[in-house]
Amino acid sequence: MKKIAVFTSGGDAPGMNACVRAVVRGALYKGLDVYGIRHGFNGLIEGDIFPMASYAVSNILQRGGTILKSARSDEFKTKAGRKKAFEHLNQRNIEGIIAIGGDGTFKGAQIFHAEFGMPVIGIPGTIDNDLYGTDYTIGFDTAVNTALHAIDNIRDTANSHDRVFFIEVMGRLSGYIALHCGIGGGAELVMVPETETTIKDVINTLEKGRDKSKTSAIIIVAEGDEQGNAHEIATKVKQQLTKKLDIRVSTLGHMQRGGSPTSRDRILASRLGLAGVEALLEGKSCHMAGVIDNKLVFNTLDDAINKEKPLREDLLNLVEVLNT
Ligand code: F6P
Repeated sequence: MKKIAVFTSGGDAPGMNACVRAVVRGALYKGLDVYGIRHGFNGLIEGDIFPMASYAVSNILQRGGTILKSARSDEFKTKAGRKKAFEHLNQRNIEGIIAIGGDGTFKGAQIFHAEFGMPVIGIPGTIDNDLYGTDYTIGFDTAVNTALHAIDNIRDTANSHDRVFFIEVMGRLSGYIALHCGIGGGAELVMVPETETTIKDVINTLEKGRDKSKTSAIIIVAEGDEQGNAHEIATKVKQQLTKKLDIRVSTLGHMQRGGSPTSRDRILASRLGLAGVEALLEGKSCHMAGVIDNKLVFNTLDDAINKEKPLREDLLNLVEVLNT
């Protein structure tokens, strides 16, 4: 293998740049030529592919977002789109690709490999931490820290006004961000899609808090919770409350996806980027690099996407215990 390419795809995540840097520098160190692809699968289809030298990744380690840009591509879902993408790689004699992204990215990569035999290694880059085969995905730690900063600020005002805040965090169908924010932010309750929390449970928690003379409360809602989004949940709670509580809602949204990556994300991204290059050179394909118990591991893309990554029971329990 002489030439490889790297791209970022799906929702951007802090640390993607650190990972691109590691792939580029790792590939050059191993004597490979390395290409960048802009705008994920769309750039592959359009041939937006360019050679990357070491200086192309200077001064990006600490930056949020992705210098390669990102996109969610509908055209890559078509066979015609994937054929165009393969031809662009073929013309440049690119023999392997590294895809940094989440489950949508890996699904596309899997089909591409099945159809054209292009070796592909996935690197988990998503704030959601929803992929099996790695304890953490690149961007998760930064997103939680960014959200915690906002939650701490909201707690100040919640406390001053004796208010209840429902704070919605991202995570798609996963409650990882919410759970970690709940523990780190000292929330009274965390609502996640993995476990059922009824509106009655919410009211009980709030009333119990008032009985213990708590004047304010923070409830973290994962965007994928089965009761709906934070606004819908707050409305249902207001309708069923017997005591009067002053309720507000805050949806943190895309601010969770930006910002300079934490040291954890930079180191994870650097390790996984190099591991991806080494895996391609060893002849691996259709695998995702991950870290379990701080050790590098590989799992198939199929497992990464389809196997369940449950929330840790002990962490779920911790929220309840610490709210005694
Ligand atoms: O997958 C990352 C993520 O931020 C999810 O947490 C969220 O549901 C989704 O992307 C938002 O996607 P978009 O940026 O397309 O609105």
